[in-house]
Amino acid sequence: MPFPIRLGVNIDHVATLRNARGGLRPDPIRAAHQAIAAGADGITAHLREDRRHIRDADMRRLKSEISRPLNFEMAATEEMVKIACSVLPHACCLVPEKREERTTEGGLDLHYDTDHIRRAIGTLKDAGIRVSLFIEADESAIETAKALEADIVELHTGTWCHAIEMGDAAMAKAEFSRLVRGARFADAAGLEVHAGHGLDYATAERLAGCVQFVEFNIGHFLIGEAVFVGMSEALRQMRHAMDLGRGLVKV
Ligand code: PXP
Repeated sequence: MPFPIRLGVNIDHVATLRNARGGLRPDPIRAAHQAIAAGADGITAHLREDRRHIRDADMRRLKSEISRPLNFEMAATEEMVKIACSVLPHACCLVPEKREERTTEGGLDLHYDTDHIRRAIGTLKDAGIRVSLFIEADESAIETAKALEADIVELHTGTWCHAIEMGDAAMAKAEFSRLVRGARFADAAGLEVHAGHGLDYATAERLAGCVQFVEFNIGHFLIGEAVFVGMSEALRQMRHAMDLGRGLVKV
């Protein structure tokens, strides 16, 4: 019997909207509560070096107020490791970060600065935090994640989703195969397998058919849909798409 995929809701873009006016509204923590009430299995938030959306105080409030696991997305810098060890989220997802990028643009390069990433993983795990690495679905990256003793790999779905959006069928096909192969390879290596970036109802449904995926982390599309249909309806539709893809509900 297939198991349902966990849905982690990324609330960064509620903070983006709040910060646009410099005040307190809309409150990203209120969005997290609503997402949980609508069935989210966890909340993800990315504390970026430039604090463009989520801020330190948001992370502390999320940790103390929400009833579901908090996934703290961050770059593997000393500053972020220190903050994570004081917030003590359920998990940390290490991502690459460039100041000039609009969003996380690719997976971590684990072959660059490996010792630094190894140290960050060790410190976080010693604090009792599960560690996830956001990587491309390549065998060598997955093998390195395993060697670095990460608990989880989150496979970057952005290129696949973008290819679909742009109507590039050949690229979409190749990227989808890469994701499925990567998920199988990581699962066989004993890593928990997550996916995220750019997912919408259709792509989440399609990817859910790959049984190695345990969790999807979805933000931008869901928060955008919530503007039109409300958080609860957006999550209901996403849950339905994921369950449909996994074969848990009939059409
Ligand atoms: N997972 C990771 C590691 C991310 O960096 C992001 C974007 O912040 C997401 C998931 C969510 O991506 P999106 O907002 O495109 O759904």
